[in-house]
Amino acid sequence: VIEIMHPGEPMVAPFPEARTLPPRWYREPALYEREVEQVFRREWLCVARADQIPRPGSYLALDLLGDPLVAVRDLEGRLRVLSRVCRHRAMPVVLGRGEARSFQCPYHRWTYGLDGRLLAAPEMERTEGFDRARCRLPELRVEEFEGFVFASFDPDAVPLAPRLEGLRRALAPYRPAALRTTEPLVFEHDWNWKVMVENFMESYHHMGIHVDTLQPLVPASGTFAEDSDGPYALLHNPSRDGAPLPVAFPPTPGLTDAQRADFLVCAVFPLTLFSVQPDSMLWYQLEPTAVDRFRLRIHPCVPEAALADAAYAEALDGFRAFADLIHRQDITACQGVHAGLASRLAEPGRYSHLEKALWQLQRFLLERAPEA
Ligand code: FES
Ligand SMILES: [Fe+2]
Repeated sequence: VIEIMHPGEPMVAPFPEARTLPPRWYREPALYEREVEQVFRREWLCVARADQIPRPGSYLALDLLGDPLVAVRDLEGRLRVLSRVCRHRAMPVVLGRGEARSFQCPYHRWTYGLDGRLLAAPEMERTEGFDRARCRLPELRVEEFEGFVFASFDPDAVPLAPRLEGLRRALAPYRPAALRTTEPLVFEHDWNWKVMVENFMESYHHMGIHVDTLQPLVPASGTFAEDSDGPYALLHNPSRDGAPLPVAFPPTPGLTDAQRADFLVCAVFPLTLFSVQPDSMLWYQLEPTAVDRFRLRIHPCVPEAALADAAYAEALDGFRAFADLIHRQDITACQGVHAGLASRLAEPGRYSHLEKALWQLQRFLLERAPEA
C-alpha cells in the first residue's frame, strides 16, 4: 500500500517495503491528464540532441504534449525552443528540419526571427493598435545537459542541471555530448508511457525476455541502481565476468577497465531515457499523446569518427539491428503488461532489489502528483 502519511513525512514507503504503482495509474485518462498538468508541463523534457541543430540557423520541428514547437539555434548560436504556431491565425510557421535565417509563415507571410520576434507582417498597417514589436512566438525554458536539449513549459521550473549532478558525474567519462545522433527507429505504441520507462529502467528482465540476447553479456543479477538525490535514475549493467563489453565503434578514449565493462541505463524523469555504452548510446525519445499511446523514437548515437568513415557503415547497420531486436523483445513484455493492468484482478505487486529505479520513478511521481 502506498502510504500517504502525515504532512512532512514521505509519501512513498521505503524501497524494501514498497509496492508497485496501482494499475489505474496506467489506465485511467483522468490520471494521465493529471500527470500532464502536474508533471510533464512543469518538469523538463528532452526535445532534441544539440548535435541535431549544430549550427546557427539549424532547426528541428517537433510536437510535444499537443504543442507544435521548434528547437532552433538562433543566429547568435543560442539554443531556443519556440512555439511554431503563428501569432496571426495559428498556422504552423515551420515543418521538418533544416537551416533558415528566419521563419516565414506560408499562410500570409508573417516573418519571425529565429529568436521568435516578429520581423515583418504585410498589410497590417491599418490594423488599430497592432504593434509588431510586441508580437513574438512564445518561448520555453531551455537547458542543455550532456548534449541533450531539455525544455520546460513552466517559466518557474526549478533549474535541472543542479539536480542532475550525481548523474553528470557518472556520465562524464563516457562523454555522451561528443556522440552523433543518427536517424531514429520509430514506433507507435499503444501502452502507457510508464510501462516503457519501467521496462527500460530495470535489467531484472534480462533473465526473462532477453535471455538469449542481453543475459549472456550482462546478467540480470549483477545490475544495480545507484541511490538518487534528484529527478533521475542510474542503473549499472556490469558484464558477466568483468571483461570489457564488445564494441562496434572506437570506444570513448580514457575509460577505465571497469567503465569498459559496464553500461549505464539512465532516466531523467519523467520521459528521457538513454543507455550509454563504452562506444555508443541509445536515446529513447518518448512523446506521450494519451494514457495508452506514445510515439517512441530510438536514436542510435555513435562517435563522429564512425560516421565519417565508410568502414563503419556495416557496424552502424548492426547496431541499429541490435537495438531493433532488443526493443522487439521489450514490446512483447510491454504489451503484455499493459493488457494485464486492465484486469480487475490486477493489484500492486512487490519489487525485487534489482528494481530500485522503478521505486525512484514512483517517488518522483508521488511527490508531484499525489492522488487526491
Ligand atoms: S496564419 Fe501565419 S501569417 Fe496568417
Ligand atoms: Fe528490455
